[in-house]
Amino acid sequence: MPQFGQKTIIAPSLLSADLLNLQHEIDLITKAGADWLHLDIMDGHFVPNLTFGPDLVHQIKQVSKLPIDVHLMISPIDPFIDAFAKAGASYLTIHPEAEFHPYRTLQKIKSHGIKAGIALNPSSPIEIVYPLLEMVDLILIMTVNPGFSGQSFLSTPLGKLKVLRKLIDSHKYPILLEVDGGVNKITAKEIIEAGADVLVTGHYVFSKNQPSSLETYKSRIEDLRK
Ligand code: DX5
Ligand code: ZN
Repeated sequence: MPQFGQKTIIAPSLLSADLLNLQHEIDLITKAGADWLHLDIMDGHFVPNLTFGPDLVHQIKQVSKLPIDVHLMISPIDPFIDAFAKAGASYLTIHPEAEFHPYRTLQKIKSHGIKAGIALNPSSPIEIVYPLLEMVDLILIMTVNPGFSGQSFLSTPLGKLKVLRKLIDSHKYPILLEVDGGVNKITAKEIIEAGADVLVTGHYVFSKNQPSSLETYKSRIEDLRK
């Protein structure tokens, strides 16, 4: 796993992969240089889309050594934490608006010995994270409204990213800053300059205007890091 403070971590979102050939897609994207696998869990209630559950995390864990970065867009959260942790999630990131007591939810995640993250929607005020800073290993800044891949990038949330970058550096908090939504080779530059450690990328890296291939995935990942 890349260490804190090193090169930009690239976390392809499997939501945009060819789901009928998921193991092949995971093999290709791993060889192409992906650092983490990002998995979007949606419940049709907290967000208007439905995706995967803990069983898929478990199956991915059997075929991949990459850290599994699980982004929970579900409400409630607490009843599902044990299942996702046992399935092999490396990071479990929650939206604080999705539970009554997010501090307790984060404690529950940490009790499994895995990393805990908190996500900020474009409309979420930055202050939500302040009381939770000691509990989190990762803060995810959403640059689209959660629910779908392939949406246009929103730049306003980068203001929150810049503030958090300064805060984390000045206090030396061991927290990674992740950006999710509309990341591509054009927006990546501005996102990295604003202080992101981790880039999630769905539609850009997996887009099917060319057939899946190692060369295509490799060049797209390299373009993000440039
Ligand atoms: C949106 C998800 C994202 C999404 C990213 O709710 O959290 O991870 O898959 O997809 P792109 O990169 O296409 O915006
Ligand atoms: Zn996501």
